[in-house]
Amino acid sequence: MDKLKDTIDILKEYNQEHIIKLLNNLDEEKQKELIKQIQKIDFHQIMELYNNTKKEIVFKEGKIEPLKYLDKEKLSEVHKKRLDELGEKIIRRGKYAVVTMAGGQGTRLGHSGPKGTFKLDVYGKGKYLFEILAENLKEANQKYETTIPWYIMTSKENNKETEKFLKKHKYFGYNKEYITIFTQSELPLVDEDGKLLIGKDFKVKEASDGNGGTYSSLRASGCLADMKERGIEWVFIGSVDNALLKMADVTLLGLAKEKKVQIASKSVVKANPFERVGVFCKMDNHPKVIEYTELPEKMAEERDRRGELKYGESHIMCNLFTIEAIEKISKEPLIYHSAFKKNSYIDENGKEVIPEKPNSYKFESFIFDAFEFFDDIAILRGKREDDFAPVKNKDGVDSPKTAKELYEKFWERNKENGKL
Ligand code: UTP
Repeated sequence: MDKLKDTIDILKEYNQEHIIKLLNNLDEEKQKELIKQIQKIDFHQIMELYNNTKKEIVFKEGKIEPLKYLDKEKLSEVHKKRLDELGEKIIRRGKYAVVTMAGGQGTRLGHSGPKGTFKLDVYGKGKYLFEILAENLKEANQKYETTIPWYIMTSKENNKETEKFLKKHKYFGYNKEYITIFTQSELPLVDEDGKLLIGKDFKVKEASDGNGGTYSSLRASGCLADMKERGIEWVFIGSVDNALLKMADVTLLGLAKEKKVQIASKSVVKANPFERVGVFCKMDNHPKVIEYTELPEKMAEERDRRGELKYGESHIMCNLFTIEAIEKISKEPLIYHSAFKKNSYIDENGKEVIPEKPNSYKFESFIFDAFEFFDDIAILRGKREDDFAPVKNKDGVDSPKTAKELYEKFWERNKENGKL
């Protein structure tokens, strides 16, 4: 069968005619590459995801309830000590590993490299986000006399740059033997009319398929097998862009152990009803996080008898799993959500367009959508000023400016005690 003709037929069937003109104008080698890529794309899936962007998200009201949590601040001294000892024992015995999700595009921040290579302007000299994470883990290693294996998830787009950057900076003093960099899976980007974007390399533009891809990518990359070989029992999965992330919180670990649950998560109280974070709840008796983009306004503002937001526990990408939980999730498909983002592309005439506003849908699965595979979760409420300094936007809320302030204030308060 003529591959070019077959590819053109596929493109016509799925209303992707804009690619045909481009395809016909490419030199032989580039044309071959694009054909190979198009043949691999699951157009049926992409079109279904695109069509879903037009549908309203409907919640089964009445089946949603608030989720119980434990406030770290309010734990008795005895209880806190017991939890910390439980957690500490696991780390000291070398049963604990950490995964950093660094496969995001960071479109809102607008930094030209991978987000972890962004330098936060702290203490004059500044610190890279990867450096801040490495420091946090090194501190844990020192305190618990071990070296925690550190797995860093990248995207196909930013993998090489991340590897180069970390190598150049000598892994910020982290033992290289304990660092594994792996790559996550991708999906094509489509514009508002359902047309696939083409990138500068004359290929269909694809982007990492969300942080929910962590589980299956851990398996596909061999990292899960590697963890098992190392005897890991608990895995922490955190984001790359929280300057106050505690990657070895022994209280959280101890709580998961004490509650005999397979998953645990740290929360902070929502700053206001419309803060752009996901919130914990229980749906049909299973733990769940509802993204800010999908939370109905009425639910966002609902308060309990004490005047606290009913759905006020924010998910801050600070999650803990048993190795068995990761294994289980890695075999289950997660649902995809869509995010409308800014992505440059090549137009029909081969000219690059850099949009000023969001122009395309990125399909992402979310890490927390796996929570509903479990009956229970342990939630530990932390403190915003100790645990959450996200670097999301270029300016305003959750920006380098707010993260710098939070980071410096935290260290001002904790000069003597360390950060854990
Ligand atoms: P965000 O959802 O904030 O996305 O990621 P982002 O890509 O960093 O930024 P925007 O939305 O484009 O501005 C939260 C965490 O999940 C990781 C990110 O790297 C970050 O640590 N992530 C996100 C992945 O690892 N892979 C993805 O596909 C998406």
